[in-house]
Amino acid sequence: TATTTPHVLFSADLISPQVQAALPDGYVLRALRRTDFASGFLECLRVLTTVGDVDEAGFEEQYDAMARQGGYYIVAIEDMSRQENSVVATGALIVERKLYVLLAPRTATPLPLQLPPNHRGIEQSLANLERIHSLGAVGHIEDIAVAKDQQGKKLGLRLIQALDFIAENVGCYKSILDCSETNEGFYVKCGFRKAGLQMAHYYEGSSKTKSS
Ligand code: ACO
Repeated sequence: TATTTPHVLFSADLISPQVQAALPDGYVLRALRRTDFASGFLECLRVLTTVGDVDEAGFEEQYDAMARQGGYYIVAIEDMSRQENSVVATGALIVERKLYVLLAPRTATPLPLQLPPNHRGIEQSLANLERIHSLGAVGHIEDIAVAKDQQGKKLGLRLIQALDFIAENVGCYKSILDCSETNEGFYVKCGFRKAGLQMAHYYEGSSKTKSS
């Protein structure tokens, strides 16, 4: 029924076989599970941010809300040889749907900021655009984290490749992310390039604070 909560975030078909094959022996790429509260997932996130006081019920409630809503693709890399904290890396893709058709560059070459002044040049520039015949979607990459003692083994790169695979297969025409300057080199190695600038508006009271 419509009210049933799915127990997986997304289909195993969206797990890239190439990324799985490229992982070190004994490491498994999979979707985050509802049972991952104490599996090392939150420990991974602690290298990235303040996780705060999350309890198991709260974790499951939020997981269920994500699963019902759809569009949340959180992956985990698990070191199967570990008894504890076996999840050693995680990353998320959130898919934002658009209500319009997007024009994406046909090649990786960015479009010129200004179109050439002559008619022929404009036609050539437009020929570089490929019309996507369905309404668009953009992927937002968030919360990339590799456990401290596992960094430098290409797990970060594999997370990004895994999320790129999902994004492409669910119809995103691009993925974007925010990061600190210290991580710019990592994302450049993963194939990203600098585009735009980040701005933020922080609200003093969260919706939870206001409603309580
Ligand atoms: N600056 C420049 N290059 C880097 C950096 C960096 N900070 N980190 C890794 N690289 C390079 C590596 O040297 C490697 O290059 P090579 O192919 O020439 O050998 C390549 O990038 C791939 O590196 P990985 O081994 O895959 O990196 P790792 O597994 O350590 O993961 C990550 C990188 C995710 C940044 C990890 O160090 C981490 O978890 N850091 C703390 C949390 C964090 O800052 N996460 C990113 C937040 S931004 C976001 O979530 C959108």
